[in-house]
Amino acid sequence: MSNDSSIQSVQSEDRIFPPPTDFAARMGTVHVPDMEAYRVMHERSIRDPEGFWGEVAADFHWYKPWSKVLEWNLPDAKWFVGGTTNACFNSVDRQVENGYGHELAILWEGEPVAGHGPEIRRITYSELRDDVARCASALESLGVKKGDVVTLYMGMVPELAIAVLACARIGAPHSVIFGGFAAQAIVDRVHDAGSAVIVTCDGAWRRGSVVPLKANVDAACEQLPGVRKVLVLKRTNNEVAMHAGRDVWWHDVVPAQPNTRACEPVDSEHPLFLLYTSGSTGKPKGILHTTGGYMVFTAATARWTFNLVPEQKQMYFCTADIGWITGHSYIVYGMLPNRVPTLMYEGAPNFPAEDRFWAIIARHNVTHFYTAPTAIRSFMRWGDMHPAKHDLSSLRVLGTVGEPINPEAWMWYHQMIGGSRCPIVDTMWQTETGGHIITPLPGATPTTPGSCTMPMFGIDAAVVDDAGNEQPANTGGLLVIRKPWPGMLRGVNGDRQRFIETYWSRVPGMYLAGDSARRDARGYFWIMGRIDDVLNVSGHRLGTAEVESSLVGSKLVVEAAVVGMPHEIKGTGITAFCVLHPDHENDASDAMRKRLMEYVSKDIGPIARPDVIRFTTALPKTRSGKIMRRLLRDVAAGKEITQDTTTLDDLGVLAKLRASDGE
Ligand code: WT7
Repeated sequence: MSNDSSIQSVQSEDRIFPPPTDFAARMGTVHVPDMEAYRVMHERSIRDPEGFWGEVAADFHWYKPWSKVLEWNLPDAKWFVGGTTNACFNSVDRQVENGYGHELAILWEGEPVAGHGPEIRRITYSELRDDVARCASALESLGVKKGDVVTLYMGMVPELAIAVLACARIGAPHSVIFGGFAAQAIVDRVHDAGSAVIVTCDGAWRRGSVVPLKANVDAACEQLPGVRKVLVLKRTNNEVAMHAGRDVWWHDVVPAQPNTRACEPVDSEHPLFLLYTSGSTGKPKGILHTTGGYMVFTAATARWTFNLVPEQKQMYFCTADIGWITGHSYIVYGMLPNRVPTLMYEGAPNFPAEDRFWAIIARHNVTHFYTAPTAIRSFMRWGDMHPAKHDLSSLRVLGTVGEPINPEAWMWYHQMIGGSRCPIVDTMWQTETGGHIITPLPGATPTTPGSCTMPMFGIDAAVVDDAGNEQPANTGGLLVIRKPWPGMLRGVNGDRQRFIETYWSRVPGMYLAGDSARRDARGYFWIMGRIDDVLNVSGHRLGTAEVESSLVGSKLVVEAAVVGMPHEIKGTGITAFCVLHPDHENDASDAMRKRLMEYVSKDIGPIARPDVIRFTTALPKTRSGKIMRRLLRDVAAGKEITQDTTTLDDLGVLAKLRASDGE
């Protein structure tokens, strides 16, 4: 079980914030108006999932109706069995066919360049439909067929959303790689997915400089003989190499296509995308989501969690990158079917200044703002003057995602950003769950800072022991989901064994989330931390094994152990204990630390860069040779070592570690 120090402050929290009394007046319509309504709906969704989800799914467009809502052979779920549909159609074309083509679908703000205001693009459903159809035809002209995985490695430009939807349009699963990852991450993912076509940009803007996306693809492709075509969008105008026969410019092939490619009807269980995420061991795993269940679950949860009402002129702004599940589900697929405009931004929250988000909110009358606790802690540090100088009165609902929120950050968000009038939805979910699994509903759920409160409809969440027995109130245990839900992962790409071992083995018959949690006397959930060797760094998942293998890959160290440590802004920071290679034994210097940090940053990406590197001559191991991670976590956190260390192979190692200086 996790022994995260942040839990203490969370557990003593007992303030209760009921939904504001004028919420209904402000929202026009409230989908779930009170806790009684929530309980009735939740109880029904668990007792009769087929009836419940059948009704929800009936609001979507199906070419052919399903014959059965759910077929469940643990751990394999099929939702809306036999039905055919298309996620792009339900996101885009349906709005056009229903007469809403002129309405705003995507609002995009580019990173402002010196001397100019921000570049703004407003894309209606009709325009989006045409752009997506052209991109779909372009992909087909490059040889992409239904079922082929297309890799998207782009910045946060509208064309990323367009490419995502174009893949869905033709039934080609996409695999989006976050633009902050580097070459090795591309190699691993493209290789695992067997992807032959990559869509990228020349570069991406970040804080006024260019992230060399195309150069990273080129470097990755040296190890990827299977890549046939690279489609390159010009965004930053930096010099890039174009490989004859392989590389084509977006502007040469996409705009010339007809806008006539219709959506391809696909089976409800046709793969919609792979998204790679970290596990405790080995390489990242490709989480598989399929079409019907994911589409229904993300759009319905978006509607309930954010109380989306298209008639109310709402403007929704999620600060995530489409490279993460939050962007997939709650920038693209969950939003567009609800006909509430989704705002995308390019760049960084503090460029050109620390008030970037507040300026965006004021400029576009944003009603819904969804961000991560780590970002909120940065906003707090940057200072109240930044939000204070903008009119944030358009805001109605605030959301957080990615990690438990500390009460201080919750209160600041509530008061400084929400003007004490906006409910905060602390949404707990995972890449694997597709959409929200535990979250307040803004018009119904009284909230308490630090708790993600109650399960979403259709989610039979519980805190159990290893045998699957529910824990008494306020007792820590394993977070599980006991019934299938439409947005659940359908597998791990190419690794059935890993799928079963990771999610379906520890507690028989239940989905294991990989988090420890407790429920309080009201039944509210409190997430306590990961139970595996996965770190949550700034709300992003990172496997300790990935960072370790990168460090060893540098050839400068022979052995490395990576653990999390408390970090004021990131939530969890990275400490790496390294044993230097004999050739560098006498180089235990700050220069070497920097060199290793840079190496990991270039290899995996800046988010994996260790915060602290500590050199040691050996790692503490048990007699059976296992690295004593718990001990290292305590050392990294600067804690007094209280645990029993009699199994340590070399007690002297511990003394050396504690004496070695960090950064
Ligand atoms: C892990 C999933 C889902 C989008 C972002 C992360 C942690 C996520 C919360 C929350 C406490 C949270 C969990 C989870 N997590 N949201 N509201 N409260 N913890 O997706 O990369 O798949 O990571 O993030 O530990 O297992 P992900």
